[in-house]
Amino acid sequence: MPTTLVTVIYIFSAVLFILSLSGLSAQQSARRGNLLGIVGMIVAVLATAATAYGTLGVATLATVAVLIGGVIGAMLAMRVAMTAMPQLVAILHSFVGLAAVLVGVAGAINPGAVRAGEARIHEIEVFIGVFVGAITFTGSVFAFGKLQEILPSRPLLLPARHWLNLIALLACIYLGVLFVGVAELPPLMPLLVMTGIAGLIGIHMVVAIGGADMPVVVSMLNSYSGWAASAAGFMLDNDLLIVTGALVGSSGAILSYIMCRAMNRSFISVIAGGFGTAGGALPAAGTKPAGEVRSVTAVETARLLRDAKRVIVVPGYGMAVASAQYMLWEVGQFLQERGIELRFAIHPVAGRLPGHMNVLLAEARVPYDIVEEMEDVNPDFPDSDVVLVMGANDIVNPGALEDVASPIYGMPVLEVWKAQTCIVMKRSMASGYAGVDNPLFYKSNTLMLFGDAKKMVEEVLTALRQGAAVAAPA
Ligand code: TAP
Repeated sequence: MPTTLVTVIYIFSAVLFILSLSGLSAQQSARRGNLLGIVGMIVAVLATAATAYGTLGVATLATVAVLIGGVIGAMLAMRVAMTAMPQLVAILHSFVGLAAVLVGVAGAINPGAVRAGEARIHEIEVFIGVFVGAITFTGSVFAFGKLQEILPSRPLLLPARHWLNLIALLACIYLGVLFVGVAELPPLMPLLVMTGIAGLIGIHMVVAIGGADMPVVVSMLNSYSGWAASAAGFMLDNDLLIVTGALVGSSGAILSYIMCRAMNRSFISVIAGGFGTAGGALPAAGTKPAGEVRSVTAVETARLLRDAKRVIVVPGYGMAVASAQYMLWEVGQFLQERGIELRFAIHPVAGRLPGHMNVLLAEARVPYDIVEEMEDVNPDFPDSDVVLVMGANDIVNPGALEDVASPIYGMPVLEVWKAQTCIVMKRSMASGYAGVDNPLFYKSNTLMLFGDAKKMVEEVLTALRQGAAVAAPA
């Protein structure tokens, strides 16, 4: 294929990727954004395939590899549960990191096969690409382990960990000087040793981060995977890969910044340390909440909802686990039909994925205009008659505002306890992802509706429909 045609196709793909990102920034246009991204990627892969492979043997091998990878990817995407999506994303990031490492090492073994040009510049590209790739690879594998709960979500804080990070970084810089300093074919050893050290930095960075900070880790690794892809683009002299990687890298960095702001954390402190941790110490457990826990039945919940004028629903990870969003929206429609004002309040880190709750509610066809952000809803809790917290925990924990010893102290939360009555629907008194007790459950205006979210919301719906008998809370 002529080079100019390839360039035109690459520009076309890059424009599609930019339009895709802008589409993904709003729920209404997200489907279109996704579609544009898919088209852009197909066009880009085909154009690259048409130009990249010189010999028939390589072309056949690459086609077979792409087909096998494509089938595995499609099967995984179709099978994955929405609750397991963050793990899938994390492991996919690790592939990008691994690819950057392999491209870099191949480039160091045989520079001619990668890029003709300034040898020193090529070596720097290789070194940086492998460094970012190795951190992304091991960091993503360990993030996968944490999200899949194979590894504990508690932060592992080694003594003098900041010094360890600094020493590892200095060692990598020194190895870089060794690698780039050799005029001829550079020695592989400094590159491989640096790969190992960078891999350890990636592991250390992720294991030091506590449960509640995982949203930032996921978006940060997303950003790293973009920069790793961009580095691979430099090594392979592929302009589109450079542009695409930069788009992913910068949008991931912006997302990490937004996540940090939502959690009231500084980005640097999250990467270097862990949520609410200081000076190498594990977070304090926080004050143990005390008081009476009052439970409520589905029938009583239905009565409270029916008698309310303003209701706010706060969905959390438990709603995703139970797939309760469809039934919940049936309850919502029932209430709306009776003139009750209903809104959904979304915390930026609810669930396990940025926008997790928005996706689930959109799936259940909840109209966008009654789904609101934390800052918009928080002032309205005092005027609400009933707040229904469905499978949420950390995001409604008052300890984040009131208990300086709490590991999640400082994180803005949905202030549901300010409503007249707060009903919390979950199976037990168990803590949420951050492993912190929740004083909300002991507040005098909180009622606990114990059980699986889907089952309980189904019972509430039945009770609403039957206009169930009324009983005072126990
Ligand atoms: P969590 O704090 O994890 O609480 C979810 C609650 O749902 C649990 O306490 C659990 O209590 C309940 N639950 C689980 N299965 C249920 C079911 N079938 N029916 C009813 N309840 C069920 O969730 P959250 O409030 O949404 O907060 C999110 C947390 O995850 C934050 O700490 C956040 O930092 C972290 N995180 C977020 C992300 C992103 S990007 N959103 C990524 C990684 C981590 P029971 O066991 O008692 O039922």
